Amino acid sequence: MGKPHAAITGIGGYVPDYILDNEELSRMVDTNDEWIMSRVGIKTRHILKDPEKGTSFMAVEACKDLFSRKQIDLDSIEAVICTTTTPDNLFPSTASKICGALGIKNAFAYDMEAACSGFITGLSIAAGYIESGRIKRVLVISAEKLSFFVNYQDRSTCPLFGDGAAAALIDATEEEVGIQDFIIRTDGQGYPYLNLKHSGSESPVTEEHIRNRENLLFQDGRNVFKHAVTDMSQVCADIMERNQLKGEDIDWLVPHQANLRIIDAVIQRTSVDPKKVLINIEHIGNTSAASIPICLWENLDKLHKGDNVLLTAFGAGFIWGAVYLKWAY
Ligand code: UT7
Repeated sequence: MGKPHAAITGIGGYVPDYILDNEELSRMVDTNDEWIMSRVGIKTRHILKDPEKGTSFMAVEACKDLFSRKQIDLDSIEAVICTTTTPDNLFPSTASKICGALGIKNAFAYDMEAACSGFITGLSIAAGYIESGRIKRVLVISAEKLSFFVNYQDRSTCPLFGDGAAAALIDATEEEVGIQDFIIRTDGQGYPYLNLKHSGSESPVTEEHIRNRENLLFQDGRNVFKHAVTDMSQVCADIMERNQLKGEDIDWLVPHQANLRIIDAVIQRTSVDPKKVLINIEHIGNTSAASIPICLWENLDKLHKGDNVLLTAFGAGFIWGAVYLKWAY
């Protein structure tokens, strides 16, 4: 008997009700729908307005949606990984809060931060646990309340981001489906180009930082753009080559939804048929770690058992990568 594969066997999702459109943004900063649509491709994004609700609220809603689609015994979940850049608190983990809210008692649970590559990194960790044979069921949750640290006075970043969550159930299977391969890379030289300068132990936030809005997200967009295109295209080419896949073998390419121009460049360089690329950036925006699983969740009706699916992401760090899987249901 070969080693078990780790397969996604269910996905749930949640986006908050409030929709922030380009018209409202253009009343907040000097921007307009034409610029945002032509340079980024986003029209609306969902925002969690309630100041008393955090990332765990959306994560729990996404899990409830998952459990309404797939009845499972909560005691069968052995590990819970919450991938987020915006935990409810620095500690304890948001994952532990989610377990408490849902009544998951038989799992070890922790947060994992890999920015916009959170979901693909979480999937690769889950694959490792499952392929080891030690664990049979993992819940990977990607949830982000990015509106918490977006600077709504900075026109170069505030149109980009939205809030949302998705939860994926990962099960062991003997079938030839599930995660086949992954490549994840990190280049710490990217650290200065996308970050929260004053948010942690090296430089705790002060009143002056708050006055200068230096506790909020900073991005050198052009630099990040350049690396995102090059690195996502290269990692897709690498994983396709080592799995003997050509563009026409990919049934679905699911890229991180940061900028439609980045997605278009990756499509061109991977020779995947544009009709086989799942895109929801126009109405969801960039939800960081949650972006790929929300896109899968919204397109579940298109996915069929055995489909070759290629996921690719790029984010702060820099950390980027690709996961090649065969859809399992
Ligand atoms: O998810 C993590 C990874 N993140 C990404 O992948 C994001 C990568 N970067 C990007 O998507 C793009 O760089 C941005 C969307 C952030 C910016 O687009 P860009 O085409 O790189 O614009 P730019 O920063 O080069 O700015 C071009 C011009 C500037 O004006 P000048 O200096 O040419 O007069 C900006 O001030 O556009 C101006 N600009 C805007 N104008 C209207 C920047 N933001 C806006 C805006 N509305 N919202």
